[in-house]
Amino acid sequence: MGRLVIVSNRVPDPRERNKPAGGLAVGLADALRGDQSTLWFGWSGRQVEADADPVPSLDTHGTVTYATIPLTPTQHRGYYQRFSNAILWPLCHYRLGLMDYARADWQQYLEVNRMFARVLAPLLKPDDIIWVHDYHLFPLAQALRELGVTAPIGFFLHIPFPPWSLFRALPPATALLDDMKAYDLIGVQTEEDAQNLWECLRVEGMTDPSRVVACPIGIDPVSFSEEARDAFEGPEVRRLRESLHDEPLIIGVDRLDYSKGLEERFHGYEKLLIRYPEHHRHVTYLQVAPVSRGEVEEYRLLRRQLDETIGRINGAFAAYDWTPIRYLTRPIARQTLAGFYRLADVALVTPLRDGMNLVAKEYVAAQNPDNPGALVLSHLAGAAPELDEALLVNPHDSDAIADALHLALTMKKEERKRRWNILNNEIRNTTAGSWARDFLKALNRTRKTSVG
Ligand code: ADP
Ligand code: F6P
Repeated sequence: MGRLVIVSNRVPDPRERNKPAGGLAVGLADALRGDQSTLWFGWSGRQVEADADPVPSLDTHGTVTYATIPLTPTQHRGYYQRFSNAILWPLCHYRLGLMDYARADWQQYLEVNRMFARVLAPLLKPDDIIWVHDYHLFPLAQALRELGVTAPIGFFLHIPFPPWSLFRALPPATALLDDMKAYDLIGVQTEEDAQNLWECLRVEGMTDPSRVVACPIGIDPVSFSEEARDAFEGPEVRRLRESLHDEPLIIGVDRLDYSKGLEERFHGYEKLLIRYPEHHRHVTYLQVAPVSRGEVEEYRLLRRQLDETIGRINGAFAAYDWTPIRYLTRPIARQTLAGFYRLADVALVTPLRDGMNLVAKEYVAAQNPDNPGALVLSHLAGAAPELDEALLVNPHDSDAIADALHLALTMKKEERKRRWNILNNEIRNTTAGSWARDFLKALNRTRKTSVG
């Protein structure tokens, strides 16, 4: 097997394994724990003024070489903040009203994709297989093909893909779809995303539906469960446990992003306190929400709004010895997080839309099989079709969230165990490793088909 070349906007810092940057970095890093020789190319996370293409910095750890490049502030704004995160992100999460289109951003996005291709092409070897990730890089394969690259190129979309009736609202929708035809294989998280994308690509003249596949990403459940067991005995979990005085804990863990339904979720928790007062002075809800994309206007507004909502709910319900919501906007070390999941009686995962949502799978992996917690999950998360033994809710319905929380907090151990066993089998069947292997096997087949 030739070398694997991964391309993504966000590349994890190999020295900071404990501080992940979201689902893409976590899922891929878990998938790469084999002996496959790999080049991982992407943005370094830095911004530097420059008037020529950057030279990549190379850093090898085990079988993976990380090749990263900085962006100029202008590129970062047009390509990352604006076109990727103020236009494509809301559109793909079905939030057309938040899409803030400007043609200059589209041009910058295309230009950065072409620059990625120019810098990557000289690093490629004849037998490479290339795997591009996420919405920042939709046009990359076409840009590479224009430079003469003939290697198989696959693409995986970590976020949802909307139907044509919505996607066509993007002014350059057809140009973008046309570029995507340069991929040999495109993977998405769910059957719904696959149908939507296929519908769009068919409009653009693609004829072979087998080039779009649903291939849900997973985690590494065995190692995550071990981390949770170890962290459970550690000082952070001990301090959290002592602070709860044997009372129940609900946990939420999400980047601070409007797609995660945080505002709606807090309303659901408020409804729990209103409609089920028996939980007053007992239950605690810990929400960990590290700040994300803080330069994008909509994210700044959300942060202010959440500060206000949480302040209001705590002000209305707190007692001098009880705070209903504890709220952290810092990232937490991954291992500590695993221990917190294990301690929590309930996980509240209610995105309004989500490509997959790895937090739901991590919560399941972290549980104690003898006394597992309950998962309340949005039916609009990509994880919902696999994790349908969770308590599924509509994230827009605060009363439904309140009812599900009450049910989770009062559920008998036998029922929790029954549900958890089914959920745990699911996350052990489709792991990060099997996801990558299945996708790459299918991508490799496209090489054989086109050669033979
Ligand atoms: P997204 O990719 O949209 O951020 P996911 O739920 O798929 O959503 O993935 C988020 C990943 O980031 C998970 O692996 C989660 O554990 C991690 N994560 C989220 N918040 C934190 C945090 N505060 N500290 C550490 N890791 C976090
Ligand atoms: O999983 C979706 C995703 O957008 C990834 O592409 C991204 O790396 C992650 O969320 C975190 O976002 P960002 O890279 O913008 O910090």
